Amino acid sequence: MPIYDALKASDPQIYNALVGEMKRQKEGVELIPSENYISPAVMETMGSCLNNKYSEGYPGKRYYGGQEYMDCVESLAIERATNLFRCEHANVQPHAGAPANVALYFALLEPGDTVLGMDLSHGGHLTHGHPVTYITKVFNFVRYKMKDIETGELDYDEMREVALREKPKIILAGFSAYPREVNYAKMKAIADEVGAYTVADMAHIAGMIAGGVLRNPFDDGFDIITTTTHKSLRGPRGGMILSRELELGRKVDKSVFPGFQGGPIMQMIAAKAVAFGEAQKPEFKEYAAQIIKNSKHMANKFMESGAKLITNGTDNHMMLLDCIKSWDMTGQEAERLFDEIGITLNKNMIPDDTRKPMDPSGIRFGTPAITTRGMKEPEMEKLTEFMLKAIEKRGDESAIKSLHDEVIEFCLKYPVPAL
Ligand SMILES: Cc1ncc(COP(=O)(O)O)c(C=O)c1O
Repeated sequence: MPIYDALKASDPQIYNALVGEMKRQKEGVELIPSENYISPAVMETMGSCLNNKYSEGYPGKRYYGGQEYMDCVESLAIERATNLFRCEHANVQPHAGAPANVALYFALLEPGDTVLGMDLSHGGHLTHGHPVTYITKVFNFVRYKMKDIETGELDYDEMREVALREKPKIILAGFSAYPREVNYAKMKAIADEVGAYTVADMAHIAGMIAGGVLRNPFDDGFDIITTTTHKSLRGPRGGMILSRELELGRKVDKSVFPGFQGGPIMQMIAAKAVAFGEAQKPEFKEYAAQIIKNSKHMANKFMESGAKLITNGTDNHMMLLDCIKSWDMTGQEAERLFDEIGITLNKNMIPDDTRKPMDPSGIRFGTPAITTRGMKEPEMEKLTEFMLKAIEKRGDESAIKSLHDEVIEFCLKYPVPAL
């Protein structure tokens, strides 16, 4: 367990919050599909003196002196990222996933250009053109959806029709709430017909692509992949833009800096390099494969209980459950109930949801974090049991309290790395 003596002495309020959060992470089950636990090596790197250095520019071309170690750090991060994802260029400087996407749009588009992406209620992300984001003032976003919500297959015919009509400059495959695998080759063929770039936002599934258990969009000729590094990829909080070819990568570099960001966060870039090194090891492949085994196993257990999963299952790390149809409760109520027993997940819109985002019909949950903790199929059964028991006992305060005690006892058997 890390020791925070200096922090304790200097700022007891923040120290207490940190210790409280550490306890929460150890005693609770993390099912939010975008969360994970970093390794001790990644954590050490993030809290290092690299924070003290300004390194505007890129390796070998910086605006400040004293860069011999920073160049080494960023070059290693780039080399490992390009090896891991089989591409020619990586920009490892985006501060997070959202800035990576915005910088990418500005690298490839002119104001007024069109992007064709997944409908937001069918699993697209805010940065793929939600009206509340500023990028919609600059670029035009049009949509495709799933063809059939029962299977989750994307509607490639509709995608082609919209592409022929709207002439997008980018066709975007990328999702924060979509449990199925994508046919990137079909998307690439449509993009080629209309002369669009192909971009995949693999933020959620990067770990499984790195581990070789989900398809790498570059293998089907995609031009660009954007991602976060902190979800299934299990690195520090951050973003990255990968380009299949060097020439596009140069445009991306200019857009990230000086187009969009200032100084890179070097301790995070170093921690990305460490995480990419970990992702190249054989045990990471096992972890990635186990994420999907766990997710499919849990999905089957819920479906056996009669619960309604959107698309009737999963191909990746994630499940979306219709709480209204399954348990006659809202996603918000389900999220609160599971919180009460120490199981954290999030309320989520289901496709074409008629309810509001803050009180939607579904929940979204997934297996990367619990897989990092060493849990396998038997533990998936136990967790499903805890959750179904909570549903059965809702309203019975003492039953919910004793279920929470059982969850804590269960969790403490699975140590959280670095804590
Ligand atoms: C598909 C997708 N893209 C981008 C992002 C944005 O990442 P960040 O929260 O790091 O800005 C997310 C985060 O949830 C995501 O799911």
